[in-house]
Amino acid sequence: MRHWKKKADPAGQVDRSRLPRHVAIIMDGNGRWARRRGLPRTAGHKAGAEVFRRIATYCKDLGIEYLTVYAFSTENWKRPPEEVDAIMGLLRQYMLEAIDSMERDQIRLRFLGDMSALSPELQALMERTNDISARIEGFQANVCLNYGGRDEILQAARRCAASGEAWTEENFGNYLYSAGLSDPDLLIRPGGEQRISNFLLWQCAYSEFYFCDTLWPDFTERTLDEAILAYQKRDRRFGGVK
Ligand code: IPE
Ligand code: IPE
Ligand code: MG
Repeated sequence: MRHWKKKADPAGQVDRSRLPRHVAIIMDGNGRWARRRGLPRTAGHKAGAEVFRRIATYCKDLGIEYLTVYAFSTENWKRPPEEVDAIMGLLRQYMLEAIDSMERDQIRLRFLGDMSALSPELQALMERTNDISARIEGFQANVCLNYGGRDEILQAARRCAASGEAWTEENFGNYLYSAGLSDPDLLIRPGGEQRISNFLLWQCAYSEFYFCDTLWPDFTERTLDEAILAYQKRDRRFGGVK
C-alpha cells in the first residue's frame, strides 16, 4: 500500500516563506503506469484522478495559491474513442464529487480551455462548480481541459483584435483562458518526457521547469516536496542581473 503523509511537509524541509505562488503540472504517464501493471490505460487515468485530488489538497495545505493541471489537451482527441470516453467519464465523476465536497474542502475550481467541444452535461457541471467557487476564497485548482497553448493564444488574438484595445501584454493576457491568474512559478512534468506539449505557452515565459521520471499515478506529496526544494535552489533573474 502506498504511504501518504498525513500532514503537509512534516519533514519541514520546504521553506514555507518561499513557496511558488503558482504550480503547474503536466499530469503524464497514466497509460504507461497501467500497462506496466497489465491493466488497460483507463485504469491509469482513474489512478491519476485520485492523485490529482490528493495533490490539490496538499498544495492547499502547504499554502500554494494556484495549482494548474493539464488534464486533456487539444491533441488528446487523437486517442481511441474508448479512451477519450473514459477520460470524459472520469471528469464527470470528478465534477459530481467536487460539487459535493469543494465547499467543505475550501477548494475553488476553474476550468481552462475550449469548453464548447465538451458535452452539454459536462458544461453544465462546470457551471455549477463555477457558481460554488464564487462562494469560496483562497486556494484555486485550475483544470486545463481541451486546452492547447496555441489555441489559447489564437482565440485571445482574435478577441483582442475585435475589442479594439491596445495590443499590450496586459490587455492580451486578459483574453487568455488564464485571465487573472499569476504566471506559473514552477512547471512540473512527471512521466519522463521533457517537453511542454502545448501547455501554457504564453504563461511559462519565466517559469522554472522540473522534470522527473515518476509516472503521475505514483506521484506523491514527497515528489512535490522534491520539486519545490529544487525550485527553491533556483536563481530567478527574469533577464536581469543580481
Ligand atoms: C496523461 O497520461 C493523461 C492524459 C494525457 C489524458 P497519458 O495517457 O499520456 O499516459 P502515457 O504518457 O501514455 O503513459
Ligand atoms: C500532455 O501529455 C497532455 C496531458 C497530460 C493532458 P501527452 O501524453 O498528451 O503529451 P505527449 O503526446 O507525450 O507530448
Ligand atoms: Mg502521455
